[in-house]
Amino acid sequence: MTRKILVTSALPYANGSIHLGHLVEYIQTDIWVRFQKMRGNTCHYVCADDTHGTPIMLRAEKEGITPEQLIDRVWQEHFDDFAAFHVQFDNYGSTNSNETKESAQGIYRTLKANGLIEVRSIEQYYDPVKNMFLPDRFIKGECPKCHAKDQYGDNCEVCGAAYAPTDLINPFSAVSGAKPELRNSDHYFFKLSADTCQAFLRQWTRGGALQAEAANKMQEWLGAEGENKLTDWDISRDAPYFGFEIPDAPGKYFYVWLDAPVGYMGSFRQLCAKNGLSFDDYWKQGSDTELYHFIGKDILYFHALFWPAMLQHAGFRTPTKLFAHGFLTVNGEKMSKSRGTFITARSYVDHIKNTEYLRYYYAAKLNGTMEDIDLNLEDFVAKVNSDLIGKYINIASRCAGFLGKFFDGKLAFADSKSLLDNAKASGLAVAASFESRDYARALRDIMALADGINGVIAAAAPWTLAKDETKRTELQEVSSYALHGFYVLSILLGPVLPALTSRVARELFGMDRDFAWSDLAELPTHINAYQHLATRLDPKLIEAMVAANQESLKPMTDSHSETRHAEHQQHAIAPLAETIGIDDFMKIDLRVAHIVNAEHVEGAEKLLKLTLDIGEAQPRTVFAGIKSAYDPEKLKGRMTVMVANLAPRKMKFGLSEGMVLAASGETPGLFVLSPDAGAQPGMRIK
Ligand code: MSP
Ligand code: ZN
Repeated sequence: MTRKILVTSALPYANGSIHLGHLVEYIQTDIWVRFQKMRGNTCHYVCADDTHGTPIMLRAEKEGITPEQLIDRVWQEHFDDFAAFHVQFDNYGSTNSNETKESAQGIYRTLKANGLIEVRSIEQYYDPVKNMFLPDRFIKGECPKCHAKDQYGDNCEVCGAAYAPTDLINPFSAVSGAKPELRNSDHYFFKLSADTCQAFLRQWTRGGALQAEAANKMQEWLGAEGENKLTDWDISRDAPYFGFEIPDAPGKYFYVWLDAPVGYMGSFRQLCAKNGLSFDDYWKQGSDTELYHFIGKDILYFHALFWPAMLQHAGFRTPTKLFAHGFLTVNGEKMSKSRGTFITARSYVDHIKNTEYLRYYYAAKLNGTMEDIDLNLEDFVAKVNSDLIGKYINIASRCAGFLGKFFDGKLAFADSKSLLDNAKASGLAVAASFESRDYARALRDIMALADGINGVIAAAAPWTLAKDETKRTELQEVSSYALHGFYVLSILLGPVLPALTSRVARELFGMDRDFAWSDLAELPTHINAYQHLATRLDPKLIEAMVAANQESLKPMTDSHSETRHAEHQQHAIAPLAETIGIDDFMKIDLRVAHIVNAEHVEGAEKLLKLTLDIGEAQPRTVFAGIKSAYDPEKLKGRMTVMVANLAPRKMKFGLSEGMVLAASGETPGLFVLSPDAGAQPGMRIK
């Protein structure tokens, strides 16, 4: 019986580029979808850009374009990036669509009719300069717990404390810098605390839709029976906001996370319109089709609580399963711009081109759990070259030629039955692994199979047989055995390597379509001339990619020869110092200093004597080695930055009570730092 399956990946935000972390999810989903399609199941894969919210609105404003222009541009970028990695959606939409709007408003109306929407006035920070209420992330201030400065409105990155923005000391708007005011405004809440929601979620989270780790998390969030830990969910935001207006609530917009998952429906509606599918067939309560959401572990809360509760109480079916995955690390650490491991999809394509290598590597690492997965760049090269090229491609490149040269491309088998039996058995085992998203196990089995085939080839040594005219039968048999092996491996690798195996099917085996799983039951009868299929991955390409991503962060002063300049910089840059924690950094008390006076020092070759005001009763004296670069007259009256808590140092010419900061490198020059206009003497720099 063919299954009817609808699959989604999380909708990427339209305010950033697709990077290798995102691709863990989209590649994982695409492999599963392709597997289902190869099996002959009816499977639809939809996704969309997640386009609403304050960050997108503000970014568009900054770029001087409309939010619609911004999301259109990003949509095209995302779409192209996914295509480059062979992530093949049946529909790729946008949450900013009529379909999503109507679905979101419809769901809202039903929830309201069911008594699950409540309006309450809440007090919130308002930016009087920008004339808008501020999301938590756009309010900053001093942490109420550890007093670290410049922390976000929801939690402190220094001590980890979580709090309300109103708890911040000396809050300011990250948008305008203004001091925010508390103002009242009506907000719309989805009553998640209602008994019906709590009871439903309690039962749903135990109903097998979640991985074990996710189910445990849910129990934590829901609390013990009768504990009623869930609070109502604030689903509205005040204008100005880029999103959908709430019906009958002028000036109120749906919070981005309300319409984001509805984007799954919106995108599927577009597919239905295109392909004549029935929307209700897949979404109506009681539907017997399957619905799967692939998501990262960071957005489990939204998908396992809010989303099913919304669906259930608005008359829709709930997901069959949520497939949550872990986060990507590169070389064992979080992706990092300074290490050059924050790599965009685009940058990968520009440097490495072959995107199926990454698909193969991710597949070799993914096992269907929520564990993080590591892209170790050395291991990446080794695995691609030893497995993909060395084990798989090699089979065809070593044996196909003999069939072409001596047998007109015709295959002949000594024992067809055992070949077909083995192919069938491998197909069953590997299918079970793909189905359970344990791609790592699937690839281990596939590579073990390749090892076996290579062993037979090595023992029979067709290259020796080929030299002996009396051994033609043996030569045709072992070459046919090898090419059948290659055929089987190609089918099994189909979900992971769609482009490569499509070429194998069409060019080598002369088929007029891509492989299907059922092709395992057939024996190929002939091959066309073998054409080069894949090249080894050159580690130099990886080095260049990492260097380029590191590069983009460095200042470029020479715009005429950016590339050459960048290359030059790369060699001139000293290795970065050891990583430190924020605590180490906070030990250095950097202050804005006003240079009240600057003068030459008699007998000193390199030093200038500076008198610095940092808001203390007495100005400080600092001897700075900047004579070669600065005329003291030009320094007078300037603002700079000093290390104020450096132990005073007795020098030949007097006591130096600190240090001013200046930049220098391989190229000549010395550059004293200065703060932007407006900074006052004594302000701390963090
Ligand atoms: N817009 C929301 C999802 C809305 S779904 C209705 C969002 N967008 S995102 O762009 O931040 O992330 C999209 C998906 O990529 C999420 O599932 C997220 O977990 C995943 N990943 C983003 N960075 C990742 C890694 N570094 N590693 C693995 N997955 C990552 O969340
Ligand atoms: Zn803190």
